[in-house]
Amino acid sequence: MTATPTTAAPTPEILAAFEAAKGFMPLDEGLALYAAAVEAGALGLPLLEVGTYCGRSTILLADAARRAGVSALTLDHHRGSEEQQPGWDYHDPETVDPETGLMDTLPTFRRTLHRAGLEEHVVALVGRSPQIAAFWKSPLGLVFVDGGHTDEHASADYEGWAPHVAEGGLLVIHDVFPDPVDEFTGQAPYRVYLRALESGAFKEVSDTGSLRVLRRG
Ligand SMILES: C[S@@+](CC[C@H](N)C(=O)[O-])C[C@H]1O[C@@H](n2cnc3c(N)ncnc32)[C@H](O)[C@@H]1O
Repeated sequence: MTATPTTAAPTPEILAAFEAAKGFMPLDEGLALYAAAVEAGALGLPLLEVGTYCGRSTILLADAARRAGVSALTLDHHRGSEEQQPGWDYHDPETVDPETGLMDTLPTFRRTLHRAGLEEHVVALVGRSPQIAAFWKSPLGLVFVDGGHTDEHASADYEGWAPHVAEGGLLVIHDVFPDPVDEFTGQAPYRVYLRALESGAFKEVSDTGSLRVLRRG
């Protein structure tokens, strides 16, 4: 079964929650992610995100999952990626837990979802992506890769999660920058995108900004 293409758009309330949430995804990419998630939801399988951060993109997956009657799964160790650590460009001091001195984006993520009224549509997986992927057995309607941007992490996300995308399901990759001049955290997501196409298992459906949507089959 192949999901039917759609250009579904979120309601003004969901859009407002998305725009109010802490995170990195611009609006045009968010709308493309939403349309992909609604389309993939028609397969009746869960939608999985690698890289929750504070839940900005999760809002869109959660609302698409709600529409389809499936669950959104979102995975993160909540300790931040390399470029989000203190001293780096993408660091936000508000994400540091004063007790441990480490980043902890889980409390903000939970507040984001609660405010958006979407808690019941989301299962949060807290841990390292390869460790969870190692015991994962279920097919997924959509996998959204927005985790670590080193080659080690991006490759592990691809190898761990792309095999679980069901026939007709979607693999969505964020921060794909073909031109090194545009890169801000490295070109590992671009290399993963090329790998997915070269595997022959996925075909490109759309590109919006740095977001690429690929379909299996
Ligand atoms: C770019 S942020 C995600 C942004 C989010 N999707 C949004 O729209 O705002 C990347 C996230 O991936 C997480 N991450 C990085 N490497 C990871 C790994 N190996 N396992 C689990 N989470 C990881 C980081 O903690 C960080 O929160």
